[in-house]
Amino acid sequence: MMESLENLKNNVLDQISQAADIKALDDIKVAVLGKKGSLTEQMKGLAALSLEEKKQKGQELNQVKVAIEAAFDDKREALAAAEMNAKLAAETIDVTLPIRDEVQGRIHPVSKIYEEVAAIFGEMGFEIADGPDIEDQFHNFNALNTPANHPARQMQDTFYITNPESANFDDSFVVRTQTSAVQIRTMEKKQPPIRIIAPGRTYRSDYDATHTPMFHQVEGLVVDKKTTFANLKGCLYDFVKAFFELDDIPVRYRPSYFPFTEPSAEMDIGCKKSKTELKIGAGNDWLEILGCGMVHPNVLKACNIDPDEYQGFAFGLGLDRLAMLKYGIPDLRTFFESDVRWLKHYGFLPLDLSSMTGGLSGQGGSAR
Ligand code: DAH
Repeated sequence: MMESLENLKNNVLDQISQAADIKALDDIKVAVLGKKGSLTEQMKGLAALSLEEKKQKGQELNQVKVAIEAAFDDKREALAAAEMNAKLAAETIDVTLPIRDEVQGRIHPVSKIYEEVAAIFGEMGFEIADGPDIEDQFHNFNALNTPANHPARQMQDTFYITNPESANFDDSFVVRTQTSAVQIRTMEKKQPPIRIIAPGRTYRSDYDATHTPMFHQVEGLVVDKKTTFANLKGCLYDFVKAFFELDDIPVRYRPSYFPFTEPSAEMDIGCKKSKTELKIGAGNDWLEILGCGMVHPNVLKACNIDPDEYQGFAFGLGLDRLAMLKYGIPDLRTFFESDVRWLKHYGFLPLDLSSMTGGLSGQGGSAR
């Protein structure tokens, strides 16, 4: 005996509304509308009816079918949404959690400045290069157009390290006096185009409020077929603007001397100095910020790069000095005393966003 159509409809709608998941819903659908489904069976029964009955019953069946199908679709949508919501809720990570109270660590101002510098040059397409702290004289001096007895060696108070395998002074090692050594290391490994910055530790025998025996520099090197002093100027101008977060900043280049660049220059930025404050930007004073120049042909030759085909520019700046300037830290020696109170005061929370608004102070000096 066939179930009454009304019963069947109510029964199915009831089942649909109670389906717990999409799988259960699909099972119901097969049981009703599948090949041997209850509604399908009733449809098959139409064949035995008279034309008049067929018309009447056919219409009724169709209406039930449409109603059931609509209910299936609605329920499927609701179940899919519920499943998605459950999944999203289960996979949620609460990124808004506050850091725990007991977190004491701070990012050192030098690390912070390093991150900022790397971010700025990274955006200009520079890669980060590296070299050892203990260098031979070839990389730290000779290949940088500063052979033994060259007067420019006197520009830096070098720490030499005896070479256990040679009594000859020229074979002794140094703790690198400048990240410029990484220029050589990079060009030895790679033919142009080259576009690197090399941040790292450097060492000189010097100690006062603006000098410590260990300090940090960032070297920059670009070598390509058409590299000009104009490129150097544009690159460094963009850098100082980004670093000091100013739309415009007066800059000037003074002729200088470094053995590995020709011509060589020092770059000053405009500032206003008063007894208590140093304000970067417009003003009548100048502040030296970095050394730079066009790579000397002898340096390219020392690295087997043909100076007739390639030119380059280089620059070097002192990270610690930039940190002193930007964050108004008066004494460099305090950077390396590992005083937690100092670090708490001048350091940065690990999640702090870069802030260019720290008080600025500091004075003179070159690439350190
Ligand atoms: N190495 C230099 C120093 O320590 C800084 C420097 C000047 C680096 C000019 C450069 C440069 O690459 O072109 O004083």
